[in-house]
Parts: sequence; C-alpha cells; structure tokens
Amino acid sequence: MKRKIVTLAHYYTIPEVQQMADKVGDSLELALYAKNCDADVIVFAGVKFMAETAKIINPRAKVILPDMNSTCSLVTMTDIDSLKKWRESYSDYEHVAYINSSAQHKALSDWIVTSRNVADIIAHLYSQGKKVIYSPDRNMGAYLNFEYGYEMPLWSAVCEVHDKFNKEELVKLMNSITGEKYLISHPESPLPVLHESHFIGSTFSLLNWVVNFSGDISAVILVATEDGILYNMRTARPELDIRQAPIYNGCQCNSCPYMKLNTVASVAAAQREERGLVIDYLSDEVMAKAAIPIKRMLDFSL
Ligand code: 13P
Ligand code: SF4
Repeated sequence: MKRKIVTLAHYYTIPEVQQMADKVGDSLELALYAKNCDADVIVFAGVKFMAETAKIINPRAKVILPDMNSTCSLVTMTDIDSLKKWRESYSDYEHVAYINSSAQHKALSDWIVTSRNVADIIAHLYSQGKKVIYSPDRNMGAYLNFEYGYEMPLWSAVCEVHDKFNKEELVKLMNSITGEKYLISHPESPLPVLHESHFIGSTFSLLNWVVNFSGDISAVILVATEDGILYNMRTARPELDIRQAPIYNGCQCNSCPYMKLNTVASVAAAQREERGLVIDYLSDEVMAKAAIPIKRMLDFSL
C-alpha cells in the first residue's frame, strides 16, 4: 500500500517551499497538525526542534527534517547539564519551556509553550499560586516579566535572528516616515524594540493583525520578525505597504539561516526518497518525559 506523506512548512520557509506543503503554519498549528494527521511520513520543513516535537506527539510516523543542519540558536545556546543544575536550583518552581528547545530540554520541564499561548499558560500557573521559571528565551521572558509584573528567573539564550532588531535604527526609520506607521513585533525581539511596538504577538498573531488591518491604506507597516512571513502577509493584503523592521546599518535582512536550509531540492528529496535527518535517535525515556509537558500544552490550547 502507498505510504501517506504529509509535508508541513513553517511561515519562515521560502514561498516555494510553503507551496509544496499540505499545511503551512506557526509552531503550535504545525504541532497540532502533526499530532492529528494519519501520515506514515511527515516531512517537516522547519527546524529540528519542530520535527522532534512532531515525532514525540506522533511516534507512529516517520518524521524527516530535510536538512540535518536546520537547528535554532535557542537550542544551541542551551547546555543541557547547566540547564539541569539551574532547574534543580528552583525545585519548588514550575519550569515553563518555550517549544524552541531540544527534546532533552523539554523532558526537564513541566510545561511547553509557544509564543501563541505563553502568556495564557503562565497567567494560568500564577492564578494557581505557582512560581515559575522560564527558559530558554531571555527576550521573551523579559517581556513577560515587564508586561505582567512577574519576577520569573530566566534562562539566557536568544534567537540570533530576532535579537538583531535594533531600537535606534528603528526609531530613525519611524521618524523618517511622515504618514501613518505601525511596528508589529515577535516577542523574541529585544525589550527596547518591543517597547516601541504597536502590537506584539506570535507569527500567527502578527499575520492575523495584518489580515485584519483596518487603518489607512497608505500606512507603513514595519514587521520585526523573520522575513519569510512577509510573503504570507503580502499575499493576504497585497495593497498594504509591509516592510521588514531594520536591524543595524540600515540592513533589512533578518532571515533565519536554519529555516532557509529548507530548499525546494531538499524538501523534494525528503518527499520522494525520504532523504534528510530521520528523527529516530531520541531515547524512549526522553520521548516519554518530553511528551508530558507538550501534551499539557496541547490540551490547554484546544
Ligand atoms: P512561532 O511559534 O510564532 O511559530 O515562532 C517560532 C519561531 O521559531 C520564531 O522564531
Ligand atoms: Fe530559532 Fe530564531 Fe530561527 Fe526561530 S528564527 S528557528 S527562534 S533561530
């Protein structure tokens, strides 16, 4: 019998790769889709932590990452032995970990969150009188602490793409635009940039904000997130002036090198010949432990 292959692509992949996918989405949408699809093979055009998450919640499927080097700086900046010691030093806290983390990292945590549900899940834990530590994204944690008055101890890793958005360049650009202008940002961006933002949200929420934009049609909309999603925004609202926010020296090139390893050739090879990194290296123990906080999040989000 023919094997059913499902291809998933994150918004940050190039348009040609998004067009090869059965489902395009943010990390939460793709995780839910991976859990519920009846695929024999899932080709995950995203990064390694996303493919690992898909395998953990759908262990029956063969999950393939088209390029084995598609990692994420939030993962590579986090040493698991140090994380373990940090976690143990807060033994009476709930450990909330961002989905942008390795399977071993997830196995050490109590809750997994994505940028879409992080605020609701942490609010839920505080409403139950719990104390919370947050890893690995320092920028997102600093934003949550500032916005909601939490005092969560934070792990210190960053997204190497979002961390480059620069407040000074941004203010210069905003001041040079005479008409209506907006800045919308992903919470992985640095806090000074988030302070300048009209709206802060996950990739899904940023796209939704643009889709539902009802302001002046000649307004400039600056977007502080990875450049792949500009394709989805411009496709949804071709009449709007949507631009990427600046990083430094006027450069507008915030592109995730790991997402961009998903080329048409590598995704096609994964689809046709099952080439790429097969996620079959996780131990049963890590899979079982990591599944608990991921399922907690998915149940909360449904
Ligand atoms: P989302 O959870 O918004 O899809 O973001 C994932 C990511 O890697 C952001 O850099
Ligand atoms: Fe990781 Fe940043 Fe790339 Fe997202 S954009 S996958 S957080 S390096």
